[in-house]
Amino acid sequence: MDLIERLDAIERDALASLGGTLDADALERWRLAVLGRRGSLAEAMKGVAVLAPSDRPRAGERANAAKQSLEAAYFSCLSSVKASARAHALEAERIDVTLPARARPTGSLHPVTMIRREVEQAFARLGFTSVEGPEVEWDHYNFTLLNIPPDHPARDTQDSFYVQGGTGEGGEMLLRTQTSPVQIRTMLAHKPPIRIIAPGRTYRNEATDASHEAMFTQVEGLCIDKNVTLADLRGTLTVVARALFGPHSEIRFRCGYFPFVEPGAEIDMTCHLCHGSGCRVCKRTGWIELGGAGMVHPRVLANVGIDPDEYSGWAFGCGLERFAMLRYGIEDIRLFYENDVRFLQQFA
Ligand code: DAH
Repeated sequence: MDLIERLDAIERDALASLGGTLDADALERWRLAVLGRRGSLAEAMKGVAVLAPSDRPRAGERANAAKQSLEAAYFSCLSSVKASARAHALEAERIDVTLPARARPTGSLHPVTMIRREVEQAFARLGFTSVEGPEVEWDHYNFTLLNIPPDHPARDTQDSFYVQGGTGEGGEMLLRTQTSPVQIRTMLAHKPPIRIIAPGRTYRNEATDASHEAMFTQVEGLCIDKNVTLADLRGTLTVVARALFGPHSEIRFRCGYFPFVEPGAEIDMTCHLCHGSGCRVCKRTGWIELGGAGMVHPRVLANVGIDPDEYSGWAFGCGLERFAMLRYGIEDIRLFYENDVRFLQQFA
């Protein structure tokens, strides 16, 4: 067979075997076998060089024509392979944009945070600013300036978490056992009139049970001005109790002792469940204990440079977990900080 016939045959067979190839791997194998450096066309072209000089031009032309037609066939097949691969991918990765979106689980505020915000809003309507103080405090602010003498049992390491090596100008360092030091910080920094509440975390080194946690939240209140009386405190607490627990709430004071107030009182609120007739929650008394309060001790005012002959004021302190327990019917304070989602989800 002469070279021209061989080239005709290579072209014909190659075009025939290419027909219908839509697979990238098969196409690549075809390219190597036909157009590759050791492919059938290259092999045949070697034959051109050994022809008699007079036969070479015709055979060369035929070889180039075969090469061009095979390359053109190859590129056209390549573009169909690519187009079909793309169509395939588009089909496989199809997204149904009409499907409903997957719901994302959302978190919710912690019950103590919700109560804290309600308390802050109720006091804000009465003109009280909410302020914060540090949770790591000097005993000077947590105790001494609040008229709690150095030998007072509350300072005992049984009750307070002291910070090791934390000694400085304010005495010893500890985790605050109450929010009352924020009263001191506020009065040192501002002149009366003062109307603040101070919510925040407090810490006590004590055994935990259904109503005691080593970490808990208090809200402190402080009002200092000329001619402030206990009646103002009772009116303020009544308005706030009604905002939180309903319009039937009443406040009463019982005698109580706290070193930083004189007179001091325990605050009671009528039971929001039985409205005073007696039930399980108020232990049949009709009253619920909310916290402590009183008229700021003249010595405390003097300690922070406020003249007790010119100014008077009241203060109170309540536990926020207790408010949340009453509001949501929670019977164990330890539930708040166990981070059990089954508990927390109920407030979403
Ligand atoms: N700090 C007190 C406590 O933790 C609560 C308290 C009582 C705060 C009377 C006051 C107050 O401001 O006047 O037990």
